[in-house]
Amino acid sequence: MVLLTTENDDGSPNLAPMSSAWALGQTIVLGLGKDGQTGHNLSRRPELVVNVPGPHLWRQVERLAGVTGRHPVPETKPAGCRYVADKFGEAGLTPRASEAVRPPRVAECGLQFEARAARVQPDSAKDFLIVEAEVLKVHADPAIVVPGTDHVEPGAWEPLIYNFRHYFGLSEELGFSYRSQTPR
Ligand SMILES: Cc1cc2nc3c(=O)[nH]c(=O)nc-3n(C[C@H](O)[C@H](O)[C@H](O)COP(=O)(O)O)c2cc1C
Repeated sequence: MVLLTTENDDGSPNLAPMSSAWALGQTIVLGLGKDGQTGHNLSRRPELVVNVPGPHLWRQVERLAGVTGRHPVPETKPAGCRYVADKFGEAGLTPRASEAVRPPRVAECGLQFEARAARVQPDSAKDFLIVEAEVLKVHADPAIVVPGTDHVEPGAWEPLIYNFRHYFGLSEELGFSYRSQTPR
C-alpha cells in the first residue's frame, strides 16, 4: 500500500491510497483509475510523493477509501463515493513540507519518496493510467535505518499489505536473499 500526495488545481494537496505500486531501481510504477483526482493532477503537474504507511495506519488509509478529491464525483466511482477537499483532515494524517517537490509528505509514514512522473499514459485497454515516477529524494524514519548506512533494516520495518481487500502486516521472517545488504 502507498498513499500518494499530488497537487490540486488550486494548489491544495490531494491524498489517495493505491495498492498498484511497484519499484525497480529509481522508478516507481503506479496503476491509477483514469477518472480520479490523482490521475487528473499527475497529467497536469507531475510532482508527487509516494508515502509508505505501516500496518498501524490501516484505519487512516481506510478512511480515504470511499472519497475522492474530484468534483463533481465521476460516475465511474463506486456508489456512495463522496467528494472531500481536505483528505489529510479526513484521514487524520499530518502534512509535512517536502524538499524537492510541491505536494507535502505524510508525516506518519516511515518511508516517503519525493518523485516526478516522467510518463503518464493509458494502459492498452484505456481503462487505467500507468504512471512511471522517478524518485528524486528518499526520506526514511531513522528508527528503521541501519546506523551509518542508507539501508533499511528489514526487521525494523513493516509495510501495510492490502490482501484481497483486507489489511495485513507481515508474518515472521522466513529468510533472506543472497543479495541482502543487511544479512543476520
Ligand atoms: C487499500 C486501497 C487500495 C487502492 N488501490 C488503488 C489502486 O491501486 N489504483 C487506483 O486507481 N485506486 C486504488 N484505490 C482507490 C482509490 O484510492 C480511490 O479511487 C480514491 O477515490 C482515489 O482518490 P482520488 O480520486 O482523489 O485520486 C485504492 C483504495 C484503497 C482503500
